[in-house]
Amino acid sequence: MTIERDPEPIYIERGAGSYVFDVDGRRFLDLNCNFTTLIHGHAFPPVVQALSDQIQRGSCVANPTKGEIELAELLCGRIPHLDRVRFVNTGTEAVLFAVKAARAFTGRTKIAKIEGAYHVAYDWVEVSQASAPSSWSDPARPISVRNYRGMPDSVLDEVVVIRFNDVEGARQLLSAHARDLAAIVLDPMPSRGGLIAPKPEFIAAVQETARNNGILVIADEVLNLRQGFQNASARHGLLPDVITMGKIIGGGLPIGAVGGRADVMKVFDASAGRPLLPQRGTFSANPLSMIAGLASMRHLDHAALPHLESSGSLFETRSASSSKRRLSRCA
Ligand SMILES: Cc1ncc(COP(=O)(O)O)c(C=O)c1O
Repeated sequence: MTIERDPEPIYIERGAGSYVFDVDGRRFLDLNCNFTTLIHGHAFPPVVQALSDQIQRGSCVANPTKGEIELAELLCGRIPHLDRVRFVNTGTEAVLFAVKAARAFTGRTKIAKIEGAYHVAYDWVEVSQASAPSSWSDPARPISVRNYRGMPDSVLDEVVVIRFNDVEGARQLLSAHARDLAAIVLDPMPSRGGLIAPKPEFIAAVQETARNNGILVIADEVLNLRQGFQNASARHGLLPDVITMGKIIGGGLPIGAVGGRADVMKVFDASAGRPLLPQRGTFSANPLSMIAGLASMRHLDHAALPHLESSGSLFETRSASSSKRRLSRCA
């Protein structure tokens, strides 16, 4: 008989740099850093300072703030093809508005996505998130798999599922559904797919087929924006029309952002009356997230990134050799 137990929770009292300390004073190396949001670690002094200054000036206000403009300028200044950006509160919301923007821009309803890729909780991007060997079908035509009981059939019908790095599959499926497809949503290096790098020929096939058929490319960079000074798309040769961001751009506070080509982002433009796509949120672009994000992103500069790369490579090499040692002991 096996008894299944949830692991004992560790109650954290504080974090400092790469470490967290629990209520009993034990120290842990934190490789999660709140699901990768804390790119400089816990209680990063410039973020702490920026937040303490801002809280004295006010925590939320309905109008845009200087911090919002500065963070938008920083992102648009370093991310290719990011002409305009709008802030929301989570990466989930960013993906939701990216898909809606593509629909409003193209007038089409379907989307394509990668089998198994994780973009969280908007119904259409949830399709086939939990795809497993038991639900795999013809590799050339992956089926749409429900992510929760009661997910409507209409949602399943509106999602075209493509296998990651399947060059021919991507070409065929995008072309076959071209008339109805608003966008393909692509995390350049999907986490749930095992963080496998995209093949250059896959990126090229997706991009070319999408362009030739008026399908927008949405790069979900909520997780992978950290892959370089610009973003993961730039690293892997993808030129998206719409980009979603989150996690590191909030410096440890809740955030999300959707941005992209100016003509596509015009769907949100309310300057001449009701926009094609209305979008608002009570806490969107709240000054604390803006200021924390700004401090964090300003310090993620050309000097900080090589350190991040080398720490990542060192961890990868050491964990690969320790798992090899463990495997040889088991043999
Ligand atoms: C690729 C990707 N997209 C979207 C999200 C959603 O972000 P959030 O948890 O801020 O809603 C995540 C979160 O892990 C993610 O990894």
